[in-house]
Amino acid sequence: MNQRALSVLLAGAAVASACTIPTEPLSSNISYPFRAQVQNASRPEVHNQYMNLFQAGGGDQHLFIGPVGVPTYDLTLVDGVINHVPHGVRAVVGGEFSEIDHTTKLFMTGRGDPRAIFQPTYACNPDTDELQIELRFVTWQNQPAGGWICVRHAFDGSHEFRYYPPGNELTDPNRECIKVTLVVIPTTELPPQSSGTTLSTSTIPATSSSTGTATSTPTTSPSAYTDLTALGFRFLGCAPEERWANDGAFRTLSGASQSTDTNTNEGCAAFCTARGFRYAGTEWSRECWCGDSVAATRYPATTLASLEKCNYKCTGDQGQYCGGDSWLTLYERCEVGEACENVVFT
Ligand SMILES: *[C@@H]1O[C@H](CO)[C@@H](O)[C@H](O)[C@H]1NC(C)=O
Ligand SMILES: *[C@@H]1O[C@H](CO)[C@@H](O)[C@H](O)[C@H]1NC(C)=O
Repeated sequence: MNQRALSVLLAGAAVASACTIPTEPLSSNISYPFRAQVQNASRPEVHNQYMNLFQAGGGDQHLFIGPVGVPTYDLTLVDGVINHVPHGVRAVVGGEFSEIDHTTKLFMTGRGDPRAIFQPTYACNPDTDELQIELRFVTWQNQPAGGWICVRHAFDGSHEFRYYPPGNELTDPNRECIKVTLVVIPTTELPPQSSGTTLSTSTIPATSSSTGTATSTPTTSPSAYTDLTALGFRFLGCAPEERWANDGAFRTLSGASQSTDTNTNEGCAAFCTARGFRYAGTEWSRECWCGDSVAATRYPATTLASLEKCNYKCTGDQGQYCGGDSWLTLYERCEVGEACENVVFT
């Protein structure tokens, strides 16, 4: 064993013998407001960061380590489930299953998805040795007990929260999901709200009050959508996948697809055209989907507000949005000889 490994081991041993763990069990309810801190002392990029909430479609809140999302100081625990009462949401597991590492999304919703159950447990802080309360992951739905919460790289330098099942040893070589401990940080005082942010609103990067490509905001947010009319594609809007439509279990665009680190809207349009498809849609930053038709129930709205759902930057171009979480940035190939114009959003 090398010296560094030994000293790490000794440091760990010293910590473990220090703080005194009370023997009485903790209730599965925490009624005081708290922040959820993430710890993994060997991963400085996530260690001691906090869980943020990020407004998503259908009233859901996604969970991120910043800079994405809104710092959240008023979480509570009800029967082992993390709640955010002001938004009427609680933490659930499910969706976006990854074939590569078998992880699943952890997010917050008011709907009936299977809840993530945690047990508050005393432990010693790895940095300070002080007593802390950790939220140990117990189970969800009818799954075997165990597993843990992990975080993996998402857009804009953020990390998203996921569930890693017990007995699993798979890792995604391109997007490792880092195992983390969730820690309860009681918030007796709410932070000052003079900075322009409030606790109850989201920080959706989409430029909802502007249209087309003529936007330039003080931040580096892309335009609400990317104009591809010069390339022969009209932008139709931000179209829902099954999760937001409740009309059956089918993909909005069911033809060819690919998932790449170089995804852009023009690249996707070219990919679909080369395969003979009329519609092309980008999603989840990295995905490109093609189809010959779009069901009426999946057709995008024409409001500016509807474009906010497609707020994930493309893996291949941070200056464009490539869909969102189960939302497609949707284009249609223009016919030869007809005017090629984007849908007008109001
Ligand atoms: C936790 O709170 C819920 C809702 O107030 C209540 O129904 C439940 O009995 C409580 N559980 C415990 C263990 O105190
Ligand atoms: C930190 O993350 C790595 C990678 O997931 C994991 O192997 C390790 O056990 C984690 N450490 C702690 C203390 O959770």
